[in-house]
Amino acid sequence: MSGIEIDRRLPEDFFAAALRDDVLKGLTADPKWLPPKWFYDARGSDLFEEITRLPEYYPTRAEREILAARASEIAALTRAETLAELGSGSSSKTTLLLDALQAAGTLRRYDPIDVSEAALLASGAQLQKRYPDLTVHAVVTDFEERLAIPDSEGPRLVAFLGGTVGNLLPEERSVFLSRVRAGLRAGEWLLLGTDLVKDPDTLVAAYDDAAGVTAEFNKNVLRVVDRELAADFDPDDFDHVALWDAEAEWIEMRLRARRSLLVRLKDLDLTVSFDAGEELRTEISAKFHREGVERELAAAGFALRQWWTDSEGRFGLSLAEGI
Ligand code: SAH
Ligand code: AVI
Repeated sequence: MSGIEIDRRLPEDFFAAALRDDVLKGLTADPKWLPPKWFYDARGSDLFEEITRLPEYYPTRAEREILAARASEIAALTRAETLAELGSGSSSKTTLLLDALQAAGTLRRYDPIDVSEAALLASGAQLQKRYPDLTVHAVVTDFEERLAIPDSEGPRLVAFLGGTVGNLLPEERSVFLSRVRAGLRAGEWLLLGTDLVKDPDTLVAAYDDAAGVTAEFNKNVLRVVDRELAADFDPDDFDHVALWDAEAEWIEMRLRARRSLLVRLKDLDLTVSFDAGEELRTEISAKFHREGVERELAAAGFALRQWWTDSEGRFGLSLAEGI
């Protein structure tokens, strides 16, 4: 069978209920925070794509370089029949893997998995044009709350690219990696992209670009909350902040209130106050060393079989086998 199938794994009201819970929890906490998955409505997904083309945002180019060099090796080692991809977004780098798996003659299906239905629909249309005979089974789900790696007979390769694993907090990351392992059989594969620790100037610039695209992406979460929960955040009341936490080894994105203000969230019957200068954490983006990645993979039941970086050593790609 070929063609695109969209599999909505979440109950109709999941997003509304999960957003309400997250916003209630995060905006009544001290310090305030919101989870990064709410960036990605259609506009947020487009803004992320724009970020990947910015001169300061090197991770996408670095990971693409590694994939271009290693895709045939990955295909030969895994002989995957199914490629499943978590947080697939536009799937634009994935074509390198799909091409290599097709050339190796093993590929039967591609399962992109993302919380953004808009991103899955847009990428699905592109994929159908490029791979008319491939079965594409797109799954709309939250990979943290409801991880679903579709079952299939032949060997599966799960790709989690872009460094998105770094957007999970360390405790969330270990639970998540163990769940991925539990969703696979021994001998199946995980291909994991991780951005690497480097000089803070390069890191901060990647999250605070001169054109202000990352600032818009960051503020998009306020627009999502306004639309979905009848709130009255004015994104212009906030400044975009990106800082490097050297101890935690992560970039933190925040929104800093320009003045003291009250925000009304009608659907939650909640009013939230911000002091002037108060910050709301919207994302962490952890950066890694090879040893840490290998250790975290091992703790989840994966053996690191290959570790590759780009020519400038900015980004790491791990191929790990479930043991
Ligand atoms: N893999 C692509 C896109 C990275 S952007 C790349 O490397 O360029 C991160 C992607 O993960 C977005 O498409 C976003 O919608 C998705 N995402 C973020 N949190 C998610 C979650 N909890 N569950 C499912 N998808 C999520
Ligand atoms: C999706 N994720 C890996 C991106 C990152 O680099 O942490 C999201 C992003 N945030 C700001 N710019 C890009």
